[in-house]
Amino acid sequence: MKIKNALLCFIATCAVTTVPLQVRAQSPIVIKFSHVVASDTPKGEAAQRFKELAEKATQGRVKIELYPNSSLYKDKEELEALQLGAVQMLAPSLAKFGPLGIKEFEVFDVPYIFPSKEVLYSVTQGPIGRDLLKKLEPKGIIGLAFWDNGFKDMSANKPIHLPSDMKGLKVRIQSSKVLDTQMRTLGAIPQVLAFSEAYPALHSGFVDGTENPPSNLYTQKMHEVQKHLTLTGHGYLGYAVIVNKKFWDGLPGDVRGQLTQAMAEATIYANTIAQQENDKALAAIKKSGKTKIYVLNEQEKNIWRKALLPVQKEVEPRIGKDLFASINKEAAKFGNQ
Ligand code: LMR
Repeated sequence: MKIKNALLCFIATCAVTTVPLQVRAQSPIVIKFSHVVASDTPKGEAAQRFKELAEKATQGRVKIELYPNSSLYKDKEELEALQLGAVQMLAPSLAKFGPLGIKEFEVFDVPYIFPSKEVLYSVTQGPIGRDLLKKLEPKGIIGLAFWDNGFKDMSANKPIHLPSDMKGLKVRIQSSKVLDTQMRTLGAIPQVLAFSEAYPALHSGFVDGTENPPSNLYTQKMHEVQKHLTLTGHGYLGYAVIVNKKFWDGLPGDVRGQLTQAMAEATIYANTIAQQENDKALAAIKKSGKTKIYVLNEQEKNIWRKALLPVQKEVEPRIGKDLFASINKEAAKFGNQ
């Protein structure tokens, strides 16, 4: 009787375990890649390119599911979801790594920290960038790449020519201590909101203004509710593409290699299209006739730079002097101080 029961139990177990195993062998590995911007932005298009490259390279063993426009998670939730394994891949803006407690990422938010795109790329695509990504590992996250967007401009419903024009404006910012300091330094009132909440807040008048590269401004239709845009280019917006470490480490080695290669190619693509996409978006904003675009002259640019200098001094002790020194060293290689 005992043997019969054991046999029945064995057969039952086989019935339960063999079927799913067979199914599992055939079904692709699914990577849910969630992000908060529109598909026709630098990040949205690079994610699409990564999907195509990855699925081709793995010959269907991997399926990338893209969830753009906060359709799955908003800013803060997406990082939690990644750590819990509810999604496998994200590309949050570098301003949003604060909740992970890695203060060094805040350096990207410091106004005018990168004198040019060359300096930026030598930081993100070189040893400084690699060291920064490594810091994510103890948090259960692997950093795969840095993707570019562009430099942020200020918008509002009144003309902004000088820093003093920001005084008293309530401005939507990403959740970053540096951006909070930046806005306060200008005499503005920072208001942290998720990206998906920016348009409704501008539309209802809950906030007066915001800062974003043209690609984000245009694809979220923020230009329809912002009468003025000033090309301040005062701060950087870029992304780190990240994956859940447990998931990544658990992938078959050959698949991980193919995905790494697909990511390298998608990164080149991302960093090639970023400027073009922002130029296109700016032209479209201009064409819409809804937003007046103001270009700063050299003298005004210098006034903005000077007004925002105290931000670096204030945040440097928290972020770390050494990181600033390393970035300055990179800048010097390109002839910048
Ligand atoms: C924002 O919240 O303004 C940006 O980080 C959105 C994005 O991902 O580009």
